[in-house]
Amino acid sequence: MDLRDHRKVYTKFELLENAVNKDPFEQFRIWFAEHKEDTKEELNIMTLATATKDGKPSARIVLLKELNEDGFVFFTNYSSRKAKEIEENPHAQLLFFWGEHERQVRIEGVLVKISKEKSIEYFNSRPAESRAGAIASPQSQIIPDRKFLEDRLGEVNQQELVMPDHWGGYVLKANYFEFWQGRHSRLHDRIFYAPENGGWKIGRLAP
Ligand SMILES: Cc1cc2nc3c(=O)[nH]c(=O)nc-3n(C[C@H](O)[C@H](O)[C@H](O)COP(=O)(O)O)c2cc1C
Repeated sequence: MDLRDHRKVYTKFELLENAVNKDPFEQFRIWFAEHKEDTKEELNIMTLATATKDGKPSARIVLLKELNEDGFVFFTNYSSRKAKEIEENPHAQLLFFWGEHERQVRIEGVLVKISKEKSIEYFNSRPAESRAGAIASPQSQIIPDRKFLEDRLGEVNQQELVMPDHWGGYVLKANYFEFWQGRHSRLHDRIFYAPENGGWKIGRLAP
């Protein structure tokens, strides 16, 4: 595979210090609304990067389900690889790539479990198929074959679909944001927000 001649020029938008919102959550909401308007892909995809306590990283896609006053919420299996990493090292990063707008958003923070009540509330709002799948799948564990899953699903479908203890949400409490806007000549705009005196310091990074 040789992609050395594959190149894209970024010219659609700009991101300037005097035009960004003072609050990174608001800036995120503005860009997300534009992404929502134009995307043809799954709307709420994000990459979640975690690491073991000795710094071995892993990343995967999860779905953003809520942005509230606590932060960015997603749901998963509490026995999965990511959950084990979060348990020993709660520092994590979320990464959004929004190609239509030539944008990337990086958000750093600390992950904490949301309340069981809130997880149950969301779990019960999911379609039966999704609830059954979440109960049936021992996420991230080695299983013998596909049939194992289908058999588990068969058994689960005989029961009431109650949220298992090994499932629930996390919220990323954000403490750093970086908004990247593709520009001409690879001189992209990178605006960061870092905590300062109870508010946010806004600055620019070289691309
Ligand atoms: C489009 C897409 C959406 C996904 N959404 C989720 C999700 O919301 N929660 C989740 O646990 N896994 C989700 N996954 C699966 C994860 O990427 C991953 O395979 C799984 O969580 C196990 O990761 P781990 O072994 O690192 O814990 C999604 C995958 C894709 C491709």
